[in-house]
Amino acid sequence: MTQPDIRSTVRDQYGAMARAGSSCCGPSTNGCCAPAADPDALAAAIGYDAGELARILPEGANLGLSCGNPGSIAALKPGETVLDLGSGAGFDVFLCGPKVGPTGRVIGVDMTPDMLAKARGNIAGYSQRTGLANVEFRMGEIEHLPLADASVDVVISNCVINLSPDKPQVWREIARVLKPGGRVAVSDMVLLKPLPDSIRSAVEAYVGCIAGASLVDDLKAMLVAAGFAKIRLTPKAAYVATLTQNDDPLYRDLAAALPPGTAPVDFITSMDISASLPGGTCCAPGCCS
Ligand SMILES: C[S@@+](CC[C@H](N)C(=O)[O-])C[C@H]1O[C@@H](n2cnc3c(N)ncnc32)[C@H](O)[C@@H]1O
Repeated sequence: MTQPDIRSTVRDQYGAMARAGSSCCGPSTNGCCAPAADPDALAAAIGYDAGELARILPEGANLGLSCGNPGSIAALKPGETVLDLGSGAGFDVFLCGPKVGPTGRVIGVDMTPDMLAKARGNIAGYSQRTGLANVEFRMGEIEHLPLADASVDVVISNCVINLSPDKPQVWREIARVLKPGGRVAVSDMVLLKPLPDSIRSAVEAYVGCIAGASLVDDLKAMLVAAGFAKIRLTPKAAYVATLTQNDDPLYRDLAAALPPGTAPVDFITSMDISASLPGGTCCAPGCCS
């Protein structure tokens, strides 16, 4: 597929998920990042706190499309400006809002109109629950962010960069919008080994956050080329293990295409990716580590 084809396929599929109100994955409908028969159970499996979700999240903000918990590695502080790439229905935007408080701001960017409409529709419920008016959602592609240079303290993203047809450009854009010393806290799918061709060329596997995933060394090279330092890549096996155990159709197909004696966890993982730009001012011992 060409880059525009990939983008419009991804947009169409995620638009359908937004309209369905929850993940459309299931035995008959392959093609998204999670089975999410039970989005809350998936969130618990990848490290979200059930009490926090119940307290903060408006109904319908968790579509079960996440593969990690970027807010948990972002060390957010009151007053910071946070950008969420591919914010979906607003899941991590809403969870990060209380962490940056009334003097901070969380901005979600997504290219899918139905996702954006859903996220914006969720703002009233978030404000009712938290008393905060510190979030917004902007239409845009993560390869061409609708934000000014050096305007953001922290970029987060949850299971999105793998979907981009131009990942080096995404990392350059992240570096452009971050302030000097700004940091990234991203969860994404990453390859430990190359996938078989039959999986790499499957549209469902691409939309399902498998086929577009980068190899670990390629990811590291993109971060370095974009100017990042203090790169920390931490594999999180729980997501793939959970989907494999739940007999998710995409992971069943992946398992069937792999060499005998191997399993999806040997090839692909959710990964916590943290890094920062040079030039930050350390406010306290350890705060820039
Ligand atoms: C797997 S979902 C994750 C949603 C959200 N981060 C979450 O965890 O619930 C991927 C989201 O990224 C958006 N997306 C995919 N590629 C994008 C791109 N190139 N630019 C902007 N948004 C994109 C999709 O519209 C969709 O909402």
